Amino acid sequence: MRFENKVAVITGAGRGIGYALAERFASEGATVVIAEINAELGMAAAERLGAHFVRTDVSDHESVRRAVEAIVSRRGRIDVWINNAGVAHKAPAVELEVAGWEADIGVMLSGTFYCAKYAGQVMIAQGSGCMVNVSSVNGLFAQKARAGYCSAKAGINMLTKVLASEWGEHGIRVNAVAPGVVMTDLVQQGIDQGIVTEEQYRGRIPMGHLGDLDDVVEAVLFLASDEASFVTGEVMRVDGGWTAYHLFYPFDQAF
Ligand SMILES: NC(=O)c1ccc[n+]([C@@H]2O[C@H](COP(=O)([O-])OP(=O)(O)OC[C@H]3O[C@@H](n4cnc5c(N)ncnc54)[C@H](O)[C@@H]3O)[C@@H](O)[C@H]2O)c1
Repeated sequence: MRFENKVAVITGAGRGIGYALAERFASEGATVVIAEINAELGMAAAERLGAHFVRTDVSDHESVRRAVEAIVSRRGRIDVWINNAGVAHKAPAVELEVAGWEADIGVMLSGTFYCAKYAGQVMIAQGSGCMVNVSSVNGLFAQKARAGYCSAKAGINMLTKVLASEWGEHGIRVNAVAPGVVMTDLVQQGIDQGIVTEEQYRGRIPMGHLGDLDDVVEAVLFLASDEASFVTGEVMRVDGGWTAYHLFYPFDQAF
């Protein structure tokens, strides 16, 4: 029960990694708030977990401001904020629709900034708090057909370090996790579109399998917990060795 009496807000927690995080924070005693754009998903998730739902579009700064206001007026404080909401538009840069670029940057990079701006004001006033940003190995290493996604995640990594630098004096830590491939709807989409197969992913990962939701959840929980009390500005890879290994890209069977 590491998060008893703590208010933990998770964006995009209607499904996937965000939902797994919400489930785990709730089981560790936190009062969980699901800040999700999809009301149907968000309400169902909140009901299942005994959590709270605030409809939030993280790409809209007014929506984020209102969500933070509502959370503070109802729950009194914000101890943990997880920026998890994400979208991915996949196409070569010259074919990528401007709307796809804008959505990737808007939801993930601008969204993380808006949440940091408004939740950060609350944490600084409290003199405590902690933020974890869900980045990606795509923020560290390039991938074709992911101009918006990779750029947004790289921006999140730097934003994490800027915020950690600014908020250290207030006792507020900011870190990121960079997952490799974890089977969620987001990844299934790419497989369904015929862009990549699950086998190709496995062949590219030194540990030989995709990550589990729990692998990401454990890393986020560690970074959000008191065990990580002197860890800030870190981008922690949770990727089965994906970024350690890049010599024989894409898929070598030789060694
Ligand atoms: N699945 C992976 O392999 C993987 C790898 C690396 C990083 N990530 C990152 O993990 C995070 C979660 O990914 P996932 O795989 O669970 O995806 P997912 O598509 O299953 O879930 C994303 C959630 O975000 C919500 N969302 C989208 N736009 C939003 C907005 N504007 N405001 C609020 N909520 C919004 C969606 O409704 C959905 O519930 C993302 O940031 C993603 O980039 C995932």
